[in-house]
Amino acid sequence: MVKFVEAKTLKDKVDVSTIGFGTHFTDYMFEMTYDEGQGWHDAQIIPYEDIKVSPANATLHYGQAIFEGMKAFRQGKDVVIFRTKDHLNRLNNSARILDIPPIDVDLVYDALHQLITIEKDWVPAQRGQSLYIRPFIFADDPYLGVNVAKRYKFYIILSPVAAYYAHGFAPVKIMVEDHYVRATKGGLGEAKTPANYAASLHAGLEAHKHGFDQVLWLDGIQHKYIGEVGSMNILFKIDGKIVTPALDGTILNGVTRRTVLAVARDWGMDVEERAISIDELVEDYKNGKLEEVFGSGTAAVISPVGVLGYKGEEMVIGDGKVGPFAQKMFNYITGLQSGLEKDVHGFIDKVTSVD
Ligand code: COI
Repeated sequence: MVKFVEAKTLKDKVDVSTIGFGTHFTDYMFEMTYDEGQGWHDAQIIPYEDIKVSPANATLHYGQAIFEGMKAFRQGKDVVIFRTKDHLNRLNNSARILDIPPIDVDLVYDALHQLITIEKDWVPAQRGQSLYIRPFIFADDPYLGVNVAKRYKFYIILSPVAAYYAHGFAPVKIMVEDHYVRATKGGLGEAKTPANYAASLHAGLEAHKHGFDQVLWLDGIQHKYIGEVGSMNILFKIDGKIVTPALDGTILNGVTRRTVLAVARDWGMDVEERAISIDELVEDYKNGKLEEVFGSGTAAVISPVGVLGYKGEEMVIGDGKVGPFAQKMFNYITGLQSGLEKDVHGFIDKVTSVD
């Protein structure tokens, strides 16, 4: 049973078009605690507020933590979430990798519906905007030994958002990273865990200095095979086919990636999930076979790539403009999320209606 603690005051709603990504939060959040021997307990929806942790908190020191990102949308009067259970199941996959106790997906699904129903007026109605849902779990032991924790906290916070990139649906410049490494086989690459994002910060900063938006990671051993961007998966249109790196344990099993592949198959396209080397990509670029490059992710949805930088050279993809496939896929997925496309795969999870 999820307890509800009412807030004394509610915040003013914000103009989502002016606030960027992840800057404002709603009135309430979900909280649940895990203790060894007791399991997950005390599920409650409480006012959004700062949380208190011990200075010896295990996560602050050793990073045993995981998170998810999903979105709620308005479809006319209805409020829906995109692929809720896929995200909650992926949270449990990250939990498995980080030795965090799994959540009860059905309990959290119901609690999330309850939270979104309370916060339904925060879900923006405009296409392209959404209520970003950030579930996260962290070790809460006040203890400096390096061990799997015995106590955890789970929260879900909500943030009204517009486009992830400040310049909206426009091509980004990505630098192929051949020095720094995000993940290797046998590591944490497949988990949605802060360590993977921490590992990306320095390389991202260097890429910015060179005029790029983000980096495209190569494999950690040979610096040869393409991985992911970090905030999104990467896909290519090569000679008419949609090609993307296979899930080899080093990249995130993106929910939007899976959506793109399913929809491309529905459209009768050839789809390949396989190892792609940077040499093959450069070759395809030179032969004119590399038609489009784009990223996919919950936050970014579809993000066309206009320029790929590698070893000081710039490959300009499709004249640096948004490719037709990326545009069509972006229109389709955002159309599905806003209720304009038929939901043939059952991706849309209706939560409630607004009056
Ligand atoms: C998402 O797409 O939901 C992500 O988690 C990317 C994020 C790190 C902004």
